[in-house]
Amino acid sequence: MKHSRILILAVLAAVVSCQGRKTTTVGSTPETEQRIERLLSRMTLAEKIGQMNQLSGGGDVANYAEAIRNGQVGSILNEVDPQKVNEFQRISVEESRLGIPLLIARDVIHGFHTVFPIPLGLAATFDPDLVEQGARMAALEATAQGVRWTFSPMLDIARDPRWGRIAEGSGEDTYLDARMAEAMVYGYQGRQPDTTSMAACIKHFVGYGAAEGGRDYNSTFLTERQLRNVYLPPFQAAVEAGAMTLMTSFNDNDGVPSTGNTFVVKDILRGEWGFDGLVVTDWNSMGEMIVHGFGTDRKDVARKALEAGVDMDMMTYGFLSHLEELVKTGAVKEAAIDDAVRNILRVKFVLGLFEHPYVDAGKAAAVQYAPDHLAAAQRSAEESAILLKNDGVLPLKADAVRSILVTGPMADAPHDQLGTWAFDGEKSHTVTPLKALQERFPGKVTYVPGLRYSREKRDSFQDVVAAARRADVVLVFLGEEAILSGEAHALADLNMKGSQSELLAALKAAGKPVVATVMAGRPLTIERDLPNCNAMLYAFHPGTMGGPALTNLLFGDVNPSGKTPITFLRTVGQAPLYYSHNMTGRPYNGETLLDDIGMEAGQTSLGNTSYYLDYGAYPLFPFGYGLSYTQFAYSGITLDKAVYGPEDEIRVSLTLANTGDCDGTEVVQVYIRDLVGSITRPVKELKAFQRVTLKAGESRNLTLTVPVSDLAFYGLDGVKKVESGDFQLWVAGDSASGDPVSFQVE
Ligand code: NOJ
Repeated sequence: MKHSRILILAVLAAVVSCQGRKTTTVGSTPETEQRIERLLSRMTLAEKIGQMNQLSGGGDVANYAEAIRNGQVGSILNEVDPQKVNEFQRISVEESRLGIPLLIARDVIHGFHTVFPIPLGLAATFDPDLVEQGARMAALEATAQGVRWTFSPMLDIARDPRWGRIAEGSGEDTYLDARMAEAMVYGYQGRQPDTTSMAACIKHFVGYGAAEGGRDYNSTFLTERQLRNVYLPPFQAAVEAGAMTLMTSFNDNDGVPSTGNTFVVKDILRGEWGFDGLVVTDWNSMGEMIVHGFGTDRKDVARKALEAGVDMDMMTYGFLSHLEELVKTGAVKEAAIDDAVRNILRVKFVLGLFEHPYVDAGKAAAVQYAPDHLAAAQRSAEESAILLKNDGVLPLKADAVRSILVTGPMADAPHDQLGTWAFDGEKSHTVTPLKALQERFPGKVTYVPGLRYSREKRDSFQDVVAAARRADVVLVFLGEEAILSGEAHALADLNMKGSQSELLAALKAAGKPVVATVMAGRPLTIERDLPNCNAMLYAFHPGTMGGPALTNLLFGDVNPSGKTPITFLRTVGQAPLYYSHNMTGRPYNGETLLDDIGMEAGQTSLGNTSYYLDYGAYPLFPFGYGLSYTQFAYSGITLDKAVYGPEDEIRVSLTLANTGDCDGTEVVQVYIRDLVGSITRPVKELKAFQRVTLKAGESRNLTLTVPVSDLAFYGLDGVKKVESGDFQLWVAGDSASGDPVSFQVE
């Protein structure tokens, strides 16, 4: 078996290499590998199987005490009370036969107590350093309470905004997702493991974001080539960054549920990438294989999951109840269980849990909401907001404002502003836009909610309109409540819910400048709303510090720099629409739309290309798009060579100028296109980006590099390589701008 061979090799390598050197993907040393072997040799079969069992805590410790004492639990999820965590650990370390500490897990997705913007918002920053910093702070807060394992980052490429979990990932692009993946892994785990390291869990392996119709948990039909070229690279990047754990997804791909998918888990993850961390199922995803019709009963699916390469069962009790019998009847080999236990113990050892199983409960509170955490959360919210429209009304001039109307369902929504996965965020700590504006402009803010929550319907907005007439400027906060995105929360209609569009139209009619800020878990279809505001900022769910961040943006203390991590659709019927689609044989070239089609027009009179008769071919905003209060000009884009070898680096030089009258930050993006391949290739692919801050009027020469090896893909022969031939390259501020320069790879 490939997997066992790899483990034997890893152990041998560990033995022969010098002490202290890391030899495994999760960063264990040869010494650690020896400790694992020694411990494993002392374990009974039942104790091994116990390690493979994860239970949900969050209740009375006494309910779990006996199972832990008996060595039947390897991990507890959903317990964040430091005293209870210590008690769980005490029972495991002091009262179980072998004293193996527990792995305490939690969904710490975009912050722990200090809530950062939702991951889709974090991706809009195009700022991996900041994202790493935020993840580090989340780890500091969570580990102070005993949580040493987070089920994050979610690396599911998502190209259908109907899917509610689009909020939890980095959007549609493989390259951006991979950079965010590395940043979060480094942040959670720390560059060097210590007691503040929280093991990352890259999820959901794999393809989960491609659910048919955007309906959560739904089937996917991704070919091996799509998996390898689009969906797997972020996972591989995260493994290379040292991610300690991985979660199998709920979905079946081409008929095979991930938790029983030997090809992706055992062959690719373990075999090709050499991953020797811990693979956990999603919540009861082992049991759900029975519902899928992929197994007859719990015993059957437990065997299938183990054979696929799963190490730990989250909440099915399948391993705990059946593995012993399966070994005894010879249906599974104890060696497979040994492999799984090695992977689990490896993570526990690398995290230092054997040396430091307890936390100092008395010190935990001081770490939460630390001033630097709040500052980083605010900066993340500032960088994640995308300016989608501005007729010049923004930035507002603080000195000139005498009266501000604040309205809309998201203006003072301390719970909903936190977003979908904020289990531990407390709304009492949220600073809403209303609160921040009232603090900054005492006596000048009038608040009329208009709608109490995003789904509310109203026929008349007389009260709001009357207040708008009396104000200098209207700041309206729209969007969707947190409950409308996230797990299981798919939508078929992406227009603003309730009477929000009507509220906006009524405000516009009042005749005062209207600035709309949208807080949402996905890119909503806002085309009909744009004409009814003078400016629009798209803030996703910005987290604890959203209020001050948005105030700074609206009043120009901070210049917006966020860029769309996902294509914004004009209408939901366009989904899925993403910038890096393959070239069709009949690309759209601006042909006849519905209103121009005459009666009884001939079937072939419309040009026969790929587009919608009613909506054309283009989105509302392309990937990578976002305005600033200043303007940037790109010039002098040149490559260092015309022809590159496979080992070369492409060095692209340019001059970026801030041609406006305020300082600003641009996200410079490099896209390439491989013109002819053994298979059709995407029309554009992001290959590099860089945030560049320039003073008003400043110009800077920049050089960005793209290793030619990054142009490799899995072609017709299924082998990853760079195919020689002609390429184009763009450097621009979004995926739809710029002129291409040509180069060749030989
Ligand atoms: C189910 C979700 O799919 C997964 O993302 C999460 O980590 C687990 N539940 C645990 O809460």
